Amino acid sequence: MARTINKLVYITGGSSGIGLETARLLASRGCSVVLFARGREGLETACADVRANAASPSQRVDALPMDVGDDSDVREKIKRAVDRFGAPDILINSAGIGTGDYFENITFDRFDRAMKTNVYGTRNVISALLPSMKLKGGGHIVNISSVAGLIGMFGYTLYCATKYAIVGMSECLRSELKRHNIAVTVVCPPEVVTRFVEEEAKTMPPESRAVKNLAGLLEPRDVARAIVKAIRRKRFLVIPGLSAKFLIFLHRISNGLLTRRPSDLVVSLTAWRAGKR
Ligand SMILES: NC(=O)c1ccc[n+]([C@@H]2O[C@H](COP(=O)([O-])OP(=O)(O)OC[C@H]3O[C@@H](n4cnc5c(N)ncnc54)[C@H](OP(=O)(O)O)[C@@H]3O)[C@@H](O)[C@H]2O)c1
Repeated sequence: MARTINKLVYITGGSSGIGLETARLLASRGCSVVLFARGREGLETACADVRANAASPSQRVDALPMDVGDDSDVREKIKRAVDRFGAPDILINSAGIGTGDYFENITFDRFDRAMKTNVYGTRNVISALLPSMKLKGGGHIVNISSVAGLIGMFGYTLYCATKYAIVGMSECLRSELKRHNIAVTVVCPPEVVTRFVEEEAKTMPPESRAVKNLAGLLEPRDVARAIVKAIRRKRFLVIPGLSAKFLIFLHRISNGLLTRRPSDLVVSLTAWRAGKR
């Protein structure tokens, strides 16, 4: 039988994809969950879905609309949530947007929006919750980065910038928060079948598509399981999926040599096929 966890969990980006799947899984293990995202309708549907997966009717499943990129909105909503539900034992920062395109197509506004959501969003929520988590005596923060937070890829100047930032922030927080009994995990999945991928496909160059295939494709439930396991074992860096693990291993042991060369080859071949070279 799956082990129960019985904690209060706050999940940003909880209305869809990885956040929603993790909420379902944690609810099935006995956790109460509070979901955050911008869209009210998506949150309502997600709440009903998570409730249906809860192990017992006494568990709380609630939601609050919040834009993680807007610091004043985050402070207001997090205060409201903590007053109403209490400080979380676990915070999962899954809110994020994807963006793949040639660097010269990325306007300042697009850059700003992704940085605000992916980087400032993570910073804003942790900053607003930290005092109450410390007061509670500890907890666990899980930040969702990406394989793109560990390897730079064609067409990912902006997305990689945001996801490398999450890895760096998490690495530093792990060290700083240890003394407050707050564990930190950073999760670096490869491509995962969610709404995010559909959005990203609208601008993704063919070269990026070809390179991305090297890291493998996962279902949200694979990532949710990896997150729950990491929480139980208090693991720091989690790379879900065998292909992604192998890719990062090659990248690290060869200082990039064994991943840049094949990636350059794939890029040249794809560009040649597309008549770009
Ligand atoms: N899917 C992949 O291939 C993949 C791979 C590696 C890492 N990741 C990372 O995994 C995380 C989750 O992505 P996903 O694939 O689950 O995407 P998704 O299905 O599109 O879900 C994204 C969630 O974030 C919320 N969100 C977006 N902008 C927000 C904002 N400004 N404030 C609050 N909530 C916001 C969305 O709801 P609203 O739009 O209603 O706000 C939604 O609930 C992201 O950080 C992403 O970078 C994804």
